[in-house]
Amino acid sequence: MGEKEQRRIIEHPILPELKDIKKVTIYYDDKPIEAMEGEAVASALMNAGIRSFRKTVKTHEPRGIFCAIGRCTDCMMIVDGKPNTRTCVTYVVDGMRVQNQNGFGIDSEVVK
Ligand code: FES
Repeated sequence: MGEKEQRRIIEHPILPELKDIKKVTIYYDDKPIEAMEGEAVASALMNAGIRSFRKTVKTHEPRGIFCAIGRCTDCMMIVDGKPNTRTCVTYVVDGMRVQNQNGFGIDSEVVK
């Protein structure tokens, strides 16, 4: 694959331009990902091609973005060591560490 596919809208007739926003680095499971300062963590992950953010408690089914407004909990991940963080309403900070969450995120094993 050549140049990385861009999944952000850089130019739009109504929205502010993204090209002037500072680029930062966050880490998804220790892998560096380029992000835009102040964007939602979920947005940065989606742009990097990541679709599975957590796994359900009982059946370990993957979940990702659903409502994107902080209501459904499908986007919850471990952010800077804090489990159950809604990544669709949490904003990127340079150096942030994001981990996929399994179940409740406190222990990687499922609670029955
Ligand atoms: S996608 Fe529903 S709370 Fe984030």
